Amino acid sequence: MFSMNATPLTLLLSALLLSTKTSAEPVSGEASSKSLQVTHNPYASLWNENEEDIAAFLRPRWKTSKLANFRKRELSHYGEGLATGKNRSKRSRGKQCSSDNGGLIQDVIDGTIHGLKHFIHHGWKHDEEWGVALMKAENSEMDNEFLVEVEFGTPKKRTKKQVLKMVFDTGSPDTWVYSPACCYAEDHTFFDPSKSRTFSNRTVVDGKPTRAPDGTPGQKFDASYGSGSTLGYMGIDTVSFSNERIQVENQTIALATSLTASRASRAMEGLMGLSAGIGSVQDGATTTPFEAMSKAGQLNQTYLSCTLVKADRETGKNGGGQYVLGEIDSSRLKGEITWTPVRSAYFWGTYFDRMSIGDVVLSQPPATTAAPIRYMIDTGSAVINLPSAMARKANQQIQGSFYTNSSQVSQHWLVPCETGTVRYERSLPETKRNKPLSIQIEGTNFTVPVEDLVFYPNSPIPSKYTGGKKNLCYSAIQEGPEEISILGLTFIKNHVVVFDQGGQTLSNRRMGVGKRSDIRYD
Ligand SMILES: *[C@@H]1O[C@H](CO)[C@@H](O)[C@H](O)[C@H]1NC(C)=O
Ligand SMILES: *[C@@H]1O[C@H](CO)[C@@H](O)[C@H](O)[C@H]1NC(C)=O
Ligand SMILES: *[C@@H]1O[C@H](CO)[C@@H](O)[C@H](O)[C@H]1NC(C)=O
Ligand SMILES: *[C@@H]1O[C@H](CO)[C@@H](O)[C@H](O)[C@H]1NC(C)=O
Ligand SMILES: *[C@@H]1O[C@H](CO)[C@@H](O)[C@H](O)[C@H]1NC(C)=O
Ligand SMILES: *[C@@H]1O[C@H](CO)[C@@H](O)[C@H](O)[C@H]1NC(C)=O
Repeated sequence: MFSMNATPLTLLLSALLLSTKTSAEPVSGEASSKSLQVTHNPYASLWNENEEDIAAFLRPRWKTSKLANFRKRELSHYGEGLATGKNRSKRSRGKQCSSDNGGLIQDVIDGTIHGLKHFIHHGWKHDEEWGVALMKAENSEMDNEFLVEVEFGTPKKRTKKQVLKMVFDTGSPDTWVYSPACCYAEDHTFFDPSKSRTFSNRTVVDGKPTRAPDGTPGQKFDASYGSGSTLGYMGIDTVSFSNERIQVENQTIALATSLTASRASRAMEGLMGLSAGIGSVQDGATTTPFEAMSKAGQLNQTYLSCTLVKADRETGKNGGGQYVLGEIDSSRLKGEITWTPVRSAYFWGTYFDRMSIGDVVLSQPPATTAAPIRYMIDTGSAVINLPSAMARKANQQIQGSFYTNSSQVSQHWLVPCETGTVRYERSLPETKRNKPLSIQIEGTNFTVPVEDLVFYPNSPIPSKYTGGKKNLCYSAIQEGPEEISILGLTFIKNHVVVFDQGGQTLSNRRMGVGKRSDIRYD
């Protein structure tokens, strides 16, 4: 379990270098002291190195590192008073399976309905012939997750398409769906492999993933996330995006047979891993669908653009936006995209110039252990997770913030629910008004507006968990691993974010961030 407490560097080192839990050969004391000489700061190395020999050195350590196992903390619901935390069992069961979402996409291309004319721009239509595909994102639970319909498998005669609502996760490499055997299968649409004529279980032969003959057990799958773990077995099948405009054959997918409880109430029916496939801790690793379609030349440009739209603060409804494969989504882009080379072989991660809230600098070069300048952009994390000292400093700048130690509250930092409303900010003395969070990347400031410093603003935490304080909600800035800042949906929904595989060779990966025409940043 990921620890909420600050982790001393020595512990990290031992976790990284001494843990032998999943590594094939035990690491002796001698080997580990040698390793320590090789690299003083293992995370810095995980970060920079792409060369083969270093990768070979790092890989077994990566597998057991705390960072690889960082459990992303979603904001789960617990107890009374949470407007968005309704039990939603039986929600739309079967509906996604039977519906053909071609209608919406067709409308988008025709540009006639939903005002989505932007998909015809520069005078031509964008569709699969040019390797561009648009996927609508459904905003679920007030920005906690954005869901995308993805089709799994190939229908047999007389079986229907199997379309599941997936969370796109640029912070992890593995893709999994609910299997019929799973825990919450009766509450969620699941993938039934027996209804796909292209499914096989996956085994690993000589380190290479292979289709297994029928009746052979699938390779075991075991992954940890913020909400706990997912267990199951691995298979291989076709995965299709945007109403089959882009299809990836022989994709590794995991079929979940067991999940921890907090996922039960969530709308997601699976998670699509979009970080580097070599980062998978499963034997034989994986190639992500995004990597596969990029390598195969299926995309005009090897881009995944995210334009996610936040929900209405008053009602908690609407929002959504879209993911676009193959090009920069200019529908809500204001100005240019700022590009940064990716510096991690595993994550969509690099360095920022400076992170600040108002005039208070949270981190800038030279980076320190307590305030690193590494960050990753993670569509699978709800909020912004910072190393604990940075999270503390940031929250201390937010008026009325409170750190709770209640184990009932899944995140520790709380702020007044009204944070960022015009009325509330005006009621504060001028010098005490909240300031936006600012992340300067390659010389340009990208901003999280004050209204988004609070998460679930309509869901006050019951005062019995807050030492009697009323009207506190989750802060959108929480603690994460000590090594890296994780910019989740709180950041992403205020920007256009583009992940670029760097062409068919997947070299020169880079990340782009742009400002939005529909957002006020002050
Ligand atoms: C795949 O593996 C699972 C779990 O090991 C097993 O239950 C299932 O029957 C296998 N499926 C096929 C088609 O062999
Ligand atoms: C997928 O695997 C099948 C059978 O193993 C093979 O015939 C086919 O060419 C593969 N497709 C791709 C795109 O690699
Ligand atoms: C939702 O409520 C029903 C009945 O009240 C219960 O059986 C079910 O377990 C609940 N589901 C979740 C995910 O809490
Ligand atoms: C495809 O990419 C090229 C640049 O590589 C661009 O000029 C062209 O407009 C793109 N076409 C579409 C349909 O996106
Ligand atoms: C939480 O803090 C309160 C007051 O500071 C203290 O009495 C209590 O023991 C703490 N609980 C835990 C679980 O640390
Ligand atoms: C970015 O914002 C910070 C804090 O407001 C400010 O100090 C800095 O000068 C800004 N940088 C640029 C390039 O505008």
